[in-house]
Amino acid sequence: MYPFREGYFAVHNGWYVIAFARDLKHELVGRWLLNEPVVLYRREDGQPVALSGLCPHRFFPLAKGRLVGDDIVCGYHGFAFDSGGRCTDIPGQSNIPATCKLRRYPVAEHGIWIWIWPGDPDKADPALLPDLADIGHTADGFIVEPFYEHELKARYQLLNDNLMDLSHLAFLHSSSIGVPENATVIEELTEGPRLLRSRRTMNKTRAPPVVKETQGYDGVVDQTNGMDFHAPGLHAGFAEMRYPDGHERAEEVLRRINVFHAVTPATRNSCYYFFAMASKDTAQIERMREYLKKTVAEDIDASESIEQMLALHGEPQREVVKYSDRNAVRGRMLLQKMMDAESAAAPNAS
Ligand code: FES
Ligand SMILES: [Fe+2]
Repeated sequence: MYPFREGYFAVHNGWYVIAFARDLKHELVGRWLLNEPVVLYRREDGQPVALSGLCPHRFFPLAKGRLVGDDIVCGYHGFAFDSGGRCTDIPGQSNIPATCKLRRYPVAEHGIWIWIWPGDPDKADPALLPDLADIGHTADGFIVEPFYEHELKARYQLLNDNLMDLSHLAFLHSSSIGVPENATVIEELTEGPRLLRSRRTMNKTRAPPVVKETQGYDGVVDQTNGMDFHAPGLHAGFAEMRYPDGHERAEEVLRRINVFHAVTPATRNSCYYFFAMASKDTAQIERMREYLKKTVAEDIDASESIEQMLALHGEPQREVVKYSDRNAVRGRMLLQKMMDAESAAAPNAS
């Protein structure tokens, strides 16, 4: 499906964020993951659990059941399942068919997130989780704060495209975080295994509105924006601004924030978006938690508006590609390559 080759939807063998760790409690939460229903909870010992969210009896959503100890009891006819997905009770009979079980998904608690692996459990390697120091999660003195969690009525790749082409800051976010140079200065790209790294350095620009509105500075800045796509599901970015040459505080950092955008395919036409930010300044974190609501709403509206166009108009045959699409196009190619490798290993896996 657009923008991938016909028949391809999402990478299965990869870690995706399914919840902020602080939000997962000893209670059932229903999610979708690559078009499959999933139920999540923490066991009494604190371990996160993810199981198929569909009762194998009559397909009632298990998230509407209840927890008894660490077992899920289906809310319809009372089948019970333990945290490994094994059926432990069928009311009114002692025989439990071998087919009565739930798929258990590999999960990991890593940083501020709960991660899930929708593909082959034997391939769920914790070493493939993004390195917390590399993404700026554990940078010296930085505090990481979950901000927002949204479910978008848009296929996940529309949000990935958005996050990998930050030229849109100059237009979609011109009233908050963007400056015209976001669209005219070409970024530098580097690639690694499951990684795309982009850096855009813009010297002597006006400070974007956010700097004036939250820090009271309305002069000229040197700035660098970066975004690292850790395929398939995390974009770790930063924005750093410095006072420019000639300023009495030249080279001093005026502002540095790290941002984390986790994008997870829910259904074919919906996705989850987990946004978090890190800064050394707790007051700035709280200001930005309010301030960025509008900016993030603009990205959500753009993604959902495109999804509506695709639904009403049909999927486009051909796009016009611009030079600064390089990063987004490479991001699509990286995911397509990963999906191709999965199909080669297990036909129809995509
Ligand atoms: S649908 Fe779950 S027990 Fe019947
Ligand atoms: Fe944006």
